[in-house]
Amino acid sequence: MPAIAAWAPGKIILFGEHAVVYHRPAIAVPVSDVQARAVILPNPLGQSGSVQIDAPDIGLNALLSELPPENPLATSILAVQEQLGLSSLPAFKIRITSTIPIAAGLGSGAAISAAIARAVSNFLGHPLSDSQVSDIAYRVDQYYHGTPSGIDNTVIAHNRPVYFVRGQPFQTLRVAQPFTLVIGNSGLPSPTGTVVGDLRARYEADPESYEPVFNHIGAIADQARGVIEQGDPFDLGPLLTANHAFLHQLGVSCPELNRLVTAALAAGALGAKLSGGGRGGNMIALAEPELAEDVSAALREAGAVHTITTVVQATP
Ligand code: PMV
Repeated sequence: MPAIAAWAPGKIILFGEHAVVYHRPAIAVPVSDVQARAVILPNPLGQSGSVQIDAPDIGLNALLSELPPENPLATSILAVQEQLGLSSLPAFKIRITSTIPIAAGLGSGAAISAAIARAVSNFLGHPLSDSQVSDIAYRVDQYYHGTPSGIDNTVIAHNRPVYFVRGQPFQTLRVAQPFTLVIGNSGLPSPTGTVVGDLRARYEADPESYEPVFNHIGAIADQARGVIEQGDPFDLGPLLTANHAFLHQLGVSCPELNRLVTAALAAGALGAKLSGGGRGGNMIALAEPELAEDVSAALREAGAVHTITTVVQATP
């Protein structure tokens, strides 16, 4: 029997993180330059239910039955079994690898779940829909983050730019003209759950101070949507930088991310902001294609441990 493989992209949030938890709109795009991959090797002679999980990136090689059910890899597989209403699984080995940096705001957890859900359901002969894959990745994200807005699993499972409002059906974004982003990794792990929880505590103590900031961020996301769908993508630059200033005001940035944003702008980026949970993880900078290498070099000079240059492609 041939191996069955599936993959899912990383993602970045362009606009609206954190405010999206409070039901303001946000925009995210898939990043296929980094990917999670799951490969299934059927084991027709193995004992029913014998599922071996091999995840060399995290040094895990174990049977599904040996893992606690809340293990995110186990949860993803068991969720497929449940979704398909199967009482047991046939024997197989699943190998999971990923080039998406972990805890960096690039959606590593959701992408791994999505790749697993796709590979396992394909192997079982009942490929799940993108929405079903998204639901499974959401469940696993809940384990990591507590109260995720759902934007990560949505953009990753659907593999399209999305305009997302929590609790509403997501909308696909049409990208009128391509644009180039440089992603800079601060090298600090982003503790998304903690940052979201800390902001929640500050918000609950003083909602009047935070509501206007969330409104500003939501308005920026709406403006950005218009630019992405119809305008000149260079106009996204000032919107990105303004969004960063509001995130800083929310207390979710950190000196390292601020330094990277400043360095990108000094190197000629049209705009820059942190992306994702903040207090570590990644930032993004919009660059004219011919300046992307300069921006990338400036980010590394300013402490980025890794940079990725990616093009958000126009969609038909
Ligand atoms: O750290 P990331 O990339 O998973 O992004 C978190 C985005 C937040 O808006 C901060 C939280 C959420 O659930 O939307």
